Amino acid sequence: MYEHDVIVVGAGGAGLRAAIAAKNEGADVAIVSKVHPVRSHTGAAEGGINAALREGDSWEDHAYDTMKGSDYLGDAPAIETLCKNSPNEVIQLEHWGMAFSREEDGRVSQRPFGGLSFPRTTYAGAETGHQLLHTMYEQLVKSGVQVYDEWHVLNLAVTDEERPEDRTCHGVVAYDVQTGEISGFRARNGVILATGGPGQAFDHTTNAVSCTGDGQAMAYRAGVPLEDMEFIQFHPTSLPSTGVLISEGVRGEGGILYNAEGERFMFEHGYANNDGELASRDVVSRAELTEVNEGRGIDDEYVHLDMRHLGEERILDRLENILHLAEDFEGVDGLKEPMPVKPGQHYAMGGIETNENGETCVNGLYAAGECACASVHGANRLGGNALPELIVFGKRAGKHAAGAEMEPAKIETGQRGEYETAEIDSPVALGEPGSFGDADAVADGGTVAEGGSVDETSIVERAVEAERRNIDELLSSEGIHHSEVRSDLQQSMTRYVNVFREEEGLKQALRDIREARDRYKDVAVSDPSRTFNTDLLQTIETRNLLDLAEAITIGALAREEFRGAHWRAEAPERKDDEWLKHTMLSWNDGTPELWYRPVMLEGEDKTYEPKTRSY
Ligand code: FUM
Repeated sequence: MYEHDVIVVGAGGAGLRAAIAAKNEGADVAIVSKVHPVRSHTGAAEGGINAALREGDSWEDHAYDTMKGSDYLGDAPAIETLCKNSPNEVIQLEHWGMAFSREEDGRVSQRPFGGLSFPRTTYAGAETGHQLLHTMYEQLVKSGVQVYDEWHVLNLAVTDEERPEDRTCHGVVAYDVQTGEISGFRARNGVILATGGPGQAFDHTTNAVSCTGDGQAMAYRAGVPLEDMEFIQFHPTSLPSTGVLISEGVRGEGGILYNAEGERFMFEHGYANNDGELASRDVVSRAELTEVNEGRGIDDEYVHLDMRHLGEERILDRLENILHLAEDFEGVDGLKEPMPVKPGQHYAMGGIETNENGETCVNGLYAAGECACASVHGANRLGGNALPELIVFGKRAGKHAAGAEMEPAKIETGQRGEYETAEIDSPVALGEPGSFGDADAVADGGTVAEGGSVDETSIVERAVEAERRNIDELLSSEGIHHSEVRSDLQQSMTRYVNVFREEEGLKQALRDIREARDRYKDVAVSDPSRTFNTDLLQTIETRNLLDLAEAITIGALAREEFRGAHWRAEAPERKDDEWLKHTMLSWNDGTPELWYRPVMLEGEDKTYEPKTRSY
């Protein structure tokens, strides 16, 4: 068994920032990641990092834009924490040597992005995430944090008291991809999940194949509620054939969207008369699909994004990466032709319920980055707000886990007893009561060692034993291949839980997920080896995707209103009287339980009053 003070799961932007921060507090820190750090999905982020750095801008304006972008479902304490801290974190990156794009006078460049009232998106060409990841990886190496890369975390080692708030996370169980060894990692202080989103639940996504929501699924099954899972962002400009992202930076620099009739539809069809292509992402994605659905799409599928008028020099200076992506993945020369684009799944606004310090309701368990929901993004994330979230909340989680003194959080976690619960109107049975990995992987409240203290090591050991049994079973059984289950799930999610949603489609998605769960019971791993057995690992990831797809769909079916990225045919209006509340879903030992927590619109100095949202 390995032992460290703080164990960070995942090595993207949030994980690296958390590890560096915890190490700076003097903790013994390790990162456990299924991919090498610089292969993390943060590297795919293109456009930039929002930070109020310039005269004429302020964190308050950034907070207002973020709250409006969230369609008033963000929690003000989280939003204000993000916007106040982002400038210093960007300056920190600059001091660490990040290669930001710059103006003639040497200042770090900023560009306009959707839904922003000020051009505050700091960037490094169209490869900001790549630069950020490498800059932080250098700092990580320098800091001496131990990295266990290509170790796939299978489960958390959590005690099993009745109430999640009484449970404690003592570590994780991980599988060494190179050797097949399964080991326990005991965390003396805490475990920080920084495992990204569940994009692979959809078949048209900008997300990497590694984005299977593992941390969300593990935390959910350990008793931490998932929050606002129905809010999935569909980015308006993904390449039709692959889902590869074409950055919002193209529109930020002046790129224009056209329909098949050559109309600049964002203005000409009145979708966003002020901001046009730079309206918030949910608005632009709906506009594009409306154009296609009304017969003005190209090949009945996509629209055109044109950047030719920006000129070769500017494109090469600020968007060179886009030229390569369009050429390599679509065979289009962006200097000479418009690029085909359509909405693609891009980001999960919801996730593991946390407070501003990254704490979940389970003691010793933290989450940060896309896997977490401190509720910064509410119903819709603004472009350029993901990267600051990683560094601001990654750092806070790292510091807190390392024992640094911090202001107590304003957002509460767990404690569902006092809040409204709701029936789930599902046409099929949900969840997986008593399913594999759950009951056995947790220890019954912890055994008591000599001297009366809880024996934390044996809790981790028992979790390891449970995972060894699970893996042996998967490797020895016969049955269907996980990819059949996964691709059916992805197709159903893309068809029914997309930009436009309606009750019958969402119910069909729940039926499809039920069927996929039932078939999953018969999955078998065809590769019997213990080394680099990606077949085995993808089988385990597929189970995570099933739980998360169900959580997304339950939230979407229950929320009978239109807010941010969630549009419902039966209720195409925002209903503040009824729905200014977060969707919470608890695993409840395999039987999902739906409840609601009010949104916190009270900031430090003001209350954000919901207004009609137009761009
Ligand atoms: O469009 C983009 O460059 C993506 C940025 C983001 O998701 O924040």
